[in-house]
Amino acid sequence: MVAIALTINGKAASVEAEPDTPLLWVVREHLKLTGTKFGCGSGLCGACTVHIDGKAMRSCQIAVSKVAGKKITTIEGLSPTGTHALQKAWIAEQVPQCGYCQSGQIMQAATLLSTNKKPTREQIVAHMDGNICRCGTYPRIVRAIQRAAREA
Ligand code: FES
Ligand code: FES
Repeated sequence: MVAIALTINGKAASVEAEPDTPLLWVVREHLKLTGTKFGCGSGLCGACTVHIDGKAMRSCQIAVSKVAGKKITTIEGLSPTGTHALQKAWIAEQVPQCGYCQSGQIMQAATLLSTNKKPTREQIVAHMDGNICRCGTYPRIVRAIQRAAREA
């Protein structure tokens, strides 16, 4: 075990972990930020998506030692008040069904709107392509991203 210093949701944190522990484990088990979900554990579903230095990344695939000193944002830190344009649009469009994939969906979508304020439908679909929803909420996800782009 080693002590690893992290910056997560704007705050400094230190965790004792094996260097190859997946960031997802540290986020959920050490820091108790359980909005980020464990889906496949293999980089295939997107449920564990967080931002690392502003980029959407699969936290199940990143060793915690690799993110020391980087800026990590989870769904809990996307907006201090839970009022990010995407979060408001998600509520307005009533996107979730079971909800399990939705944190990852929102974190993935947020990096699209941070670089492309008015994406086309095709750009939205391409950007969201790797995030799986077992409940099939894809049409509402697209509508919510379009709404957030309109209303942001
Ligand atoms: S849990 Fe990380 S991609 Fe599925
Ligand atoms: S809302 Fe159930 S998996 Fe997406």
